[in-house]
Formats: sequence, C-alpha cells, structure tokens
Amino acid sequence: MDRFAEDGYAVFPGFKSRLELGALRARAEAIARECASEPVSIFSTRDQAQKSDEYFLSSGDKIRCFFEEDGTTVNKIGHAMHDLDPIFDRFSHDARLAEIAVRAGLPKPALYQSMYIFKQPRVGGAVDWHQDAAFLRTDPVSVTAFWFALDDADRTNGCLWVQPGGHRSPLRSQFVVRDGKAELQTLDATPWPDLTQAVPVEVEAGTLVVFNGLLPHYSAPNTSERPRHAYTLHAVDARAAYAPDNWLQRPGLPLRGF
Ligand code: FE2
Repeated sequence: MDRFAEDGYAVFPGFKSRLELGALRARAEAIARECASEPVSIFSTRDQAQKSDEYFLSSGDKIRCFFEEDGTTVNKIGHAMHDLDPIFDRFSHDARLAEIAVRAGLPKPALYQSMYIFKQPRVGGAVDWHQDAAFLRTDPVSVTAFWFALDDADRTNGCLWVQPGGHRSPLRSQFVVRDGKAELQTLDATPWPDLTQAVPVEVEAGTLVVFNGLLPHYSAPNTSERPRHAYTLHAVDARAAYAPDNWLQRPGLPLRGF
C-alpha cells in the first residue's frame, strides 16, 4: 500500500484463502450453469441491441449473466451479487477490506458493484484501455476497484495491464444514460498510454489488486488453455455526489460498505 498514492494501484498477494476462492468459484459456476440452462431469448431477437442495453442497464440491483459474442459462453455475472447472494456477500465484506479502503482514501465506502469475470480459455476477449471512473461517476471522483484473482493471472491468460502513475491523468470519458440510452462521451482528448508504458500485473490466485478509478488499465485476450476468473468490487465515497445519470442505479437496494 506504500506506493498506492504514487502508482495508483497496490497488490496484496495471498489475500484470500484457497477455501474462500473455491467457495466463490463454485457459486459463480453454479449461477452460470443456471443461466446457460435457460438461455436469454433477448439475445436472439431482431431488436437485440436495444434489448441487451435494457438487460444491462437494469442489472445494477440484480444478479444477471452476460454472454460472449458466441451467445452461449458466460462472459461475466453482475452486478449486485455482493448484496443478494450469501456466498458473494461473505467474500465481499471483510474488516481487512474496510481497512484497505481507508488507506485508499475511502473512510466511508459505498459498494456499488460486483462482477465475476470468467475470461474462458481461448474465448475470453480483450478489454481495451479505460478508466473505471468513467462508469461510476461521483463528484469528486472517488471510485476504487478491488480486483481478486481466482486463478493465477499472467500475460498468456489475460492479466491486468496498468499504467503506473496514470491515475494523475484526466478522466477521458464518461458513460452517461439519457432516456434509456447509454453513451460514452469524450471529456478529454488525452491519448491512452502506449504499450511501452503498460505494466502487466501478473499475480497468483488469491491476490487482491486495488486501484484508483482514474488508473488507465486493460486486459488482453485469454489465448491460453487455462481460465482466468476474477472478481471485482467497485466502491465509491458515500459522501461524494453520485451522478444521477450513471448507468448503475439501485432503487430499493440499500448501499453498504465493507
Ligand atoms: Fe476496469
């Protein structure tokens, strides 16, 4: 945590035990199996784009599966497992996380979002450079990511890549919802880092990576034969103003800290 202010991220090896990882993984796989057994018909309808927007935009207070482009492989589960599922709840609420949040500048965290990302062997795709602060906007900026490796993650199976110190660069875009339509708007033309500035965060299963919401990061496709499961939590400062046009709204689901 010593270099968090300077680098914009910090790595905690061995943060979660094999037992905790196993429980979360088993639960995520069970949810994915349930989803696959009742395929979401909206992905095959004519107005697919609009329906899948609705499916995503209304998922902030639910547990939903999202699929790869093949339509059958589960890409991720989101976005309120940490409040709605007892096993995810247990994994996500931890006095040590509360302590890390304080050190990351979040004495009063509000946990908005959870995602379980499968990044399946040979199928899991890339996620381009972005800043998480574009997607969960507060005034002032406060979103902080807590990323847990369920598998060993390296550059062959799609580990995180970050730009150390890049959290001091401006917020480049914002994801805004108006009249049920989502749009990524450009705020600042600062280019994304070039690949010489990117550092791979290769970690073992059980590692926690905490990073500032302004830190540019991406992940490459999983070209290996191994899965790269990861679980992320996003917390904001409960005292900051949460943008009413953020995509993620949780009507009827109270916010909690760690
Ligand atoms: Fe991200």
